[in-house]
Order: sequence, then structure tokens, then C-alpha cells
Amino acid sequence: MEVLSTILQLKQFIYHKKEQKQTIGFVPTMGYLHKGHESLMQKAKLECDIVILSIFVNPLQFGPNEDYEVYPRDIDRDLQIAKEMNVDVVFSPSVEEMYPSEVYTKVSVSNLTSRLCGASRPGHFDGVSTVVMKLFNIVEPDKAFFGQKDAQQVAVIKQMVSDLNMNVEIVACPIIREEDGLALSSRNVYLNNNEREQAIKLFEALEHSERWIDENVTIEELKRQLYDHIASAPLAKIEYIEILSYPDLQSLEGNVTQLLVNKEIIIALAVKFGKTRLIDNRIYTGNTINVKREPDLGGIVYV
Ligand code: PAF
Repeated sequence: MEVLSTILQLKQFIYHKKEQKQTIGFVPTMGYLHKGHESLMQKAKLECDIVILSIFVNPLQFGPNEDYEVYPRDIDRDLQIAKEMNVDVVFSPSVEEMYPSEVYTKVSVSNLTSRLCGASRPGHFDGVSTVVMKLFNIVEPDKAFFGQKDAQQVAVIKQMVSDLNMNVEIVACPIIREEDGLALSSRNVYLNNNEREQAIKLFEALEHSERWIDENVTIEELKRQLYDHIASAPLAKIEYIEILSYPDLQSLEGNVTQLLVNKEIIIALAVKFGKTRLIDNRIYTGNTINVKREPDLGGIVYV
């Protein structure tokens, strides 16, 4: 496995691989790798000849009062995991390498970014789409792999790729969970024991949503049920509970089962426990008779 820190080194590596007609799979991350990231590397390895993993905590996507400085980092452990996953190259640039001077050009995807995390974290998705665009220009991947836990991020990146005619296929991979259902996230490490115990309410609420939908609820009623369940955790500070169409993220009204006849629906949650902000989601798709969970996207995978 090669560990490269400059754009030039990486471009040279990729130039040779492309000359040899090798396909490139790319897994962009901010490091502190967990089983969710491992599932992306695994999928990339299955689908592409060469796997490139980037580890870069991108300052552009953090707000002034967010956790950029304290975001968990452990490059030695990450390199060990990448090696075990048979990654070919880890690209781990410095901030100066990625942003040698003030950034004048940003990529901004509108509409999809006005809600959910886009509303609670102003500028976040501009930071994400700008760095992902830069990384795509450097790596020129055939396929790039993202976790569906960040469902809004997946929708935003897909939109950017489509709007700008970029030659990369975006592959969304299922959410990976702890045994009790908590979605894996690098930020889970911030949770203390009490917060960790109560954080399970997000997954429980998503699990119960299947039954509530079967009971023929409206969007408002479903939101209320989700709210009541999560709010029963004394430490939960709910940032949003939203039920929107997916991937276009439009508001919905009316009976959920009827809406599912011709729409995909996302239940998206953001809840703080202490200082830790957790997100989770489930995507439902339906047909005229049965509501069913989307197996590829919202399907549960335990580690
Ligand atoms: O999902 C993440 O880890 C980040 O948002 C990404 C895509 C690596 C961009 O910094």
C-alpha cells in the first residue's frame, strides 16, 4: 500500500494506472475509520481494480463553532485498517496541500441543501461539494463510494455529478450499525455511557416507523410518533425530524402509504446527545400493495 501526501504524487500514480486501463474506485473519508468505511473499501475492491482512500479532515465543511479542531484523528490506526482492507493508495494531504491559498471558487448545489443538515449547518454542503469536486478532479475515479448514513450528502453529490456532467458513478452503500442498531459514525467516540445508551432511540424510532406506517399514519402523525419516541430519552436534544421525498428532499403531506405509491420517502433525524450530534435515516419505497424498506439503501447491516 502506498501512502501519498501530495497531489502530484497521486496524479502520477493514477496516470500510470489509467495507462494500464485499470479502473479506479475512490473512497473519500475524513479518517478515524470504522466498519462503515470498511464496507465502502470492500465494495470498491470488489468493483474496481485499484482502490484509493483519501483521509482529509476538510476545514471548509465545518462551521466556526463546530468540531473541526477536535474531530477525532488517528492516522496510524487508519493506515493499519486501510492495509488490512487491501487499499492500494491512501491519499492523506495537508490542509496547505489542498488549499494552498484562499479559496475563491466554491461548488454550491442549491435546493437540496436548504433543508436538514444544510439548514442546521450553513455552508456545510458547499464545503463538502467543493472538496469532493477537487478530489474527483485529482483522482478521476470511475466509481466513488459513499455511505447512505449521510443520505443528504449522497443526494447532493449525485446532483453535482449530474449537473456538471462528471464522469464518475456514485455508489451509495448501506448504513452499517452497531449490534444494538446505533449507526456507526466517527463522532460516536464522543458519547459518554449515558448518552451512548440513550442514542439507541434514533434507531428504535426508525424501526418502529415501519409499524406506524402500516397503521396508515399521515406524515404529521408519523413525525409526532418519531418525536415522542426520541424525546422520551432525557438527554436527547432534537435538531430535526423530517419526512421528505428522496432524493429531491421536498416537503410532503398526507397519508404515508399513499405517498409511497409513487415516491421514495426519507425519514431523516438529527439529534444531539450532550455535545455529540448524531444523524440517522431510513428510506422507504413502496408499491400499491405493500410498503417495503429499500434493501440496498435503508437496509440494516450489523457489524
Ligand atoms: O462524508 C465524509 O466523510 C465527508 O463529508 C467527505 C465526503 C469525505 C468530504 O470531506
